[in-house]
Amino acid sequence: MFARSAARVLTSQTRLFSSSASRHTKVAVLGAGGGIGQPLSLLLKTDPLVSSLSLYDIRGAPGVAADVSHVDTPSEVNGYAADKLDEALDGVQVVVIPAGVPRKPGMTRDDLFNTNASIVRDLASAIGRVSPKAHILVISNPVNSTVPIVASTLAKAGVYDPKRVFGVTTLDVVRAARFTASLASTHPDNTPITVVGGHSGATIVPLLSQSAHGKAIKGEAYEKLVHRIQFGGDEVVKAKDGAGSATLSMAYAGAKFANAVLRALNGEKGVVTPTFVESPLFKDHGIDFFSSKVEHGVNGVEKIFPLGELSSEEQKLLEACLPELKKNIEKGRAFVQA
Ligand code: NAD
Ligand code: LMR
Repeated sequence: MFARSAARVLTSQTRLFSSSASRHTKVAVLGAGGGIGQPLSLLLKTDPLVSSLSLYDIRGAPGVAADVSHVDTPSEVNGYAADKLDEALDGVQVVVIPAGVPRKPGMTRDDLFNTNASIVRDLASAIGRVSPKAHILVISNPVNSTVPIVASTLAKAGVYDPKRVFGVTTLDVVRAARFTASLASTHPDNTPITVVGGHSGATIVPLLSQSAHGKAIKGEAYEKLVHRIQFGGDEVVKAKDGAGSATLSMAYAGAKFANAVLRALNGEKGVVTPTFVESPLFKDHGIDFFSSKVEHGVNGVEKIFPLGELSSEEQKLLEACLPELKKNIEKGRAFVQA
């Protein structure tokens, strides 16, 4: 079921953290009945660092919970119907949010803003009220705006901790490794690619020059690879032909990112992943949120790494990313202020 790396991560976790795994780590999935929510809930059920799973959706979560609860891992699973959000959030340490509508062909992620902004704001508001210390992992698009919405909503309630709010950009990282590895004829595990910026089109900036395998890809092959990493989401939206966007690869990426957060919460040191967080890196450009490599710790973001050396092509990609990202962030903030 798992790709080799995920299976290995889970095996080594069990070995290294079997005692801490028995500590109570309660995780909630908000939007658990959806295309991402269902397989993500299943993958989280198989994560030994999760001791309790709270599945919430405005429709279908009790059924998903009953189904997932039969999987033979020790964690308990509870499903919560639309009017039970506060109960679903009670005592959770980690909340993953894949609630909201996905794209159809011809739409940008920003076209989802009008529907998803209020969904995410209302969920963030409930988290701020019921479980203000939870680590919040935002999947709902447009991530470049929904993360500032979550941050501003929590700030309005006086409970915002920038170390605990993450935009999940792991699917870009997963795609970058997979696409580069197929070109380089390597294993994706040996072809990690850092992806920075945001999560939409030109705001997705792969730093191929920082990988020996990525660096070797030049000319037209390089241009095509960058385009495929930036627009991989469109590939899936087009292929699904009106039936939504990436769900299975996203569930894999979401479970992988949640596992990184959980490992750090359980005391593992040196857990580093790219993620979209409040960041000092481009504050002087008026950009408060940016995805770059982050070290996770027991309190969330422990350290934000600088981008490192960029090629001239990557400098240009970054220049194209920044103004669009700034607009997306401001739109999210303005929504909450209004
Ligand atoms: P989906 O329509 O299959 O599922 C969404 C679920 O959210 C549904 O079950 C729906 O009932 C639920 N929902 C709606 N409003 C809710 C609310 N107020 N509270 C709780 N649940 C609510 O969509 P999907 O394919 O699972 O995608 C979900 C979101 O994830 C979309 O916005 C999509 O664009 C985004 N996405 C992000 C990434 C990423 O890389 N970050 C990747 C893929 C998809
Ligand atoms: C993706 O990258 O697959 C997601 O953001 C979904 C989308 O709308 O493309």
